[in-house]
Amino acid sequence: VSDEIVTRRLLLRRWTENDRPGFAAINADSEVMRYFPATLSAAESDAFVDRIEEGFDRDGFGLWAVELDGRLAGYTGLSQQKGLLTTGDCVEVGWRLARWAWGQGIATEAALAALRCGFEDQGLTEIFSWTTETNAPSEAVMLRIGLLRRPELDFDHPRLVDWWGRRHIVYSLRSEEWAVTHA
Ligand SMILES: CC(C)(COP(=O)(O)OP(=O)(O)OC[C@H]1O[C@@H](n2cnc3c(N)ncnc32)[C@H](O)[C@@H]1OP(=O)(O)O)[C@@H](O)C(=O)NCCC(=O)NCCS
Repeated sequence: VSDEIVTRRLLLRRWTENDRPGFAAINADSEVMRYFPATLSAAESDAFVDRIEEGFDRDGFGLWAVELDGRLAGYTGLSQQKGLLTTGDCVEVGWRLARWAWGQGIATEAALAALRCGFEDQGLTEIFSWTTETNAPSEAVMLRIGLLRRPELDFDHPRLVDWWGRRHIVYSLRSEEWAVTHA
């Protein structure tokens, strides 16, 4: 079980009740949610926290709350994903940060710790990541952490039928590739 990870600058941890208002503010920011179909209401944001915490209980990992100097910066972590890739169910690494936390390498630092946890503690054999085609900041994180482009897995999101960002590009890293580049 990986409830907590400490990196050079960050604490990745499970969610507390105190995180809910700050996370709701992040999810209500239209700039943060620019590459998603909509912002989230406070109720939707709270339900998201509940689902994340259920995932931690079930899987032993999840989308960690990222804390910088005692302040909630957003999330980065691993989540189980079903029904999106032609290769089957998988684990995705993902990130969402408050605007004040951009431009400091926080997503990169947290995502590298998440990959290490996934491969070395959780024994995952492959970790994926995807984003809508035009989300260059997110794709840049994928490239910085060493994920490899898997164009054959690109997909149209089944739940986002009439949305401009439906097409998604896919990256991944296999455990043997991680071992070569990050050991
Ligand atoms: C995706 C997202 C997390 C990327 O944030 P980011 O700040 O660009 O990424 P990082 O935290 O890795 O920081 C990298 C930036 O910090 C700079 N930086 C400063 N110190 C750094 C360090 N120690 N290490 C790496 N980068 C550093 C980099 O140069 C880069 O800036 P640049 O883009 O101007 O070149 C952010 O844009 C976001 O939250 N977006 C909204 C949610 C979203 O779309 N999520 C993804 C959905 S798939």
